[in-house]
Amino acid sequence: MKILSIETSCDETAVSILEIDGDLAKPKIKVLGNTLLSQAVLHEQYGGVYPNLAKREHQKNLPILLEQTLKQAHLEVGLPSVDFIAVTAGPGLEPALWVGITFAEELGRKWNKPVVPVNHMEGHVFSVLYNADKPLELPALALLISGGHTELVHIRDFGDYEIIGRTLDDAVGEAFDKVARMLGLSYPGGPIISKLAQEARTEKLESDLKFPRPMINSGNLNFSFSGLKTAVLYKLRDEKREDDEFKRMVAREFEDAVTDVLVEKTRRALSSLDTPIKTLIIAGGVSANTFISLAFAKLASEFPTLTLRLPTRELTTDNAIMIGIAAYVRVKSEPKILNDNSALIAKGNLSINSEYNRTTSLSEDIKDN
Ligand code: KG4
Ligand code: ZN
Repeated sequence: MKILSIETSCDETAVSILEIDGDLAKPKIKVLGNTLLSQAVLHEQYGGVYPNLAKREHQKNLPILLEQTLKQAHLEVGLPSVDFIAVTAGPGLEPALWVGITFAEELGRKWNKPVVPVNHMEGHVFSVLYNADKPLELPALALLISGGHTELVHIRDFGDYEIIGRTLDDAVGEAFDKVARMLGLSYPGGPIISKLAQEARTEKLESDLKFPRPMINSGNLNFSFSGLKTAVLYKLRDEKREDDEFKRMVAREFEDAVTDVLVEKTRRALSSLDTPIKTLIIAGGVSANTFISLAFAKLASEFPTLTLRLPTRELTTDNAIMIGIAAYVRVKSEPKILNDNSALIAKGNLSINSEYNRTTSLSEDIKDN
């Protein structure tokens, strides 16, 4: 099956063409073409993603990336031999999502191909199917940690998900980005904070900094990171230090606090689910963090029958390959989706366990809200 996939939910414009076949647990995936343009430097001055700028950039970049991707795949630009088009329909920034959806639907009409909506978070989950050496065993628990999300999802089966914990305020990646901004560091903050934290560990810097581990003992599986962020802010105000050594100490204590909370909640989730979980998936931009992924390797070793799966480094942050893979999962588990040609709707807060929005279900949607 050949899939053209499009991702524009946040500040990455990405297009890929996959040739993908076989068992969902271990599909054979060949990347025929793949392009990605990050807008991170453009958003840096705002300290986060500025939706209208993202929208404009996606509009500008999509046609260029499409052409490059088709060329890489040696496919005809006029009418390429793809089976269908997959596009992220949510969650994300609605103005940005709409650009991808409109573009995908225009292509669908022009080429007479079905357009399949993909849930971005399902994309992160199934990013672990890429370059995997063994089948994905379900049920799984996925900890999705990105700039917009922090959630624990029980993956009962392909297409059958339940969110069992989520952040009540900021997402982990967002907390990394905000703390980086407070320290005068650039966006995205995760990689830089993580580098400084690692330097502090290597240098064995002594410090008595202690930040809270919010909700670590709350008895449920939810998260909160805004208090941690505020604790960092107050500390910076009180100490009035701007030297690099202090920044490294703050970065280390912040990363330690985040890691402690993520690991403890995941441990609790693994122990509390009735069905024994076979795979622990850690995915989303923050899963690129080496310190956090090592902490999860340690956690997984506490559960003798549990396998830990993380995406390859290039697939941790947003990309179109994961959207193509999730579309394959969707089409294989629900083939009739290819016959549904009603218009798609972007939904910023689309949840991993909810139905996609189409014009036909608009009235339901209004009732829901
Ligand atoms: O999944 P992603 O690319 O976009 C969303 O769907 O949100 O995640 C981006 C987030 C940013 O907040 C970024 O700071 C964070 O992932 N991130 C990291 C690291 N690399 C990226 N956070 C911590 N450590 C990292 N090494
Ligand atoms: Zn993402």
